Amino acid sequence: MSVVQESIAPDPAACPWPPRFGGKRIAVVGASQGGIGAAIAHAFADAGAEVLITGAEDAPNPGEAERFTYTCMDVTSDDAVAAFAQAAGALDVLVNCAAITVRGEEMAPAFFNHVLDVNLTGSLRCAMAVQPGLAARKGCVINIASMYARFGSPRNPAYGASKAGVEQMTKSLAIAWAGDGIRVNAIAPGFIVTAQSVRARQDPAFEAGVTARTPLGRWGQPADIAGAALFLASPAAGFITGACLAVDGGYSIV
Ligand SMILES: NC(=O)c1ccc[n+]([C@@H]2O[C@H](COP(=O)([O-])OP(=O)(O)OC[C@H]3O[C@@H](n4cnc5c(N)ncnc54)[C@H](O)[C@@H]3O)[C@@H](O)[C@H]2O)c1
Repeated sequence: MSVVQESIAPDPAACPWPPRFGGKRIAVVGASQGGIGAAIAHAFADAGAEVLITGAEDAPNPGEAERFTYTCMDVTSDDAVAAFAQAAGALDVLVNCAAITVRGEEMAPAFFNHVLDVNLTGSLRCAMAVQPGLAARKGCVINIASMYARFGSPRNPAYGASKAGVEQMTKSLAIAWAGDGIRVNAIAPGFIVTAQSVRARQDPAFEAGVTARTPLGRWGQPADIAGAALFLASPAAGFITGACLAVDGGYSIV
């Protein structure tokens, strides 16, 4: 007896590209410095969304200040995160971009713990705080991991441990919140030209080594990450949860 399998491919008309986010409310935590978070915030705004951004600084870069509602928020503070979530209310997307790393200074246990608190626990804190707001809209979370979630880094051990934790936590939250209609995914950027990577890029051998190993032959720009964020938040990714999407010019496949 032959079995006829019905097509389960999505209807292209239901998944327009680029996706539009008119009427959607997005929060990008860690978008103050013109880096990856800022690029993601601009991409969502270009696609019609209302975008809230945060950062650790009193004010964001001018390019972000003129476009977005900004909240200075330390992700290690339960109270600050709770206040932000309360003010944000119902949300369609949370993007967790806040992170720190200080190359060469992460073996000291106290600082190691601090990096974990910002990068890993901070992402959990933000996700937990806005979970009711995401459930109200069957929204999604996008966490930002890193190549160092999978590769060792002798100069950034806390950062690597935190990002491995982010990738793993993404899977756990995806299962925990699937019943609420909340999808949870991550993006693992390759090496991107931002404020955070300045110290690494000051090491000529390191900078050249990344370029040489990357099949596409260059460091990424913040805008290289934005398309993946729009995709993961769009209806086209409606059956994707718990995934970690590498956006790395091929760095991780070599
Ligand atoms: N640049 C890269 O090569 C690269 C590669 C992989 C992953 N990433 C990740 O991308 C994300 C964005 O980084 P970026 O490179 O654009 O750097 P960035 O410096 O532009 O952004 C970091 C953001 O984190 C915020 N932040 C730092 N400490 C905070 C705290 N305690 N509380 C709240 N916010 C805090 C900063 O205010 C800033 O907005 C980070 O998660 C980073 O780890 C970056």
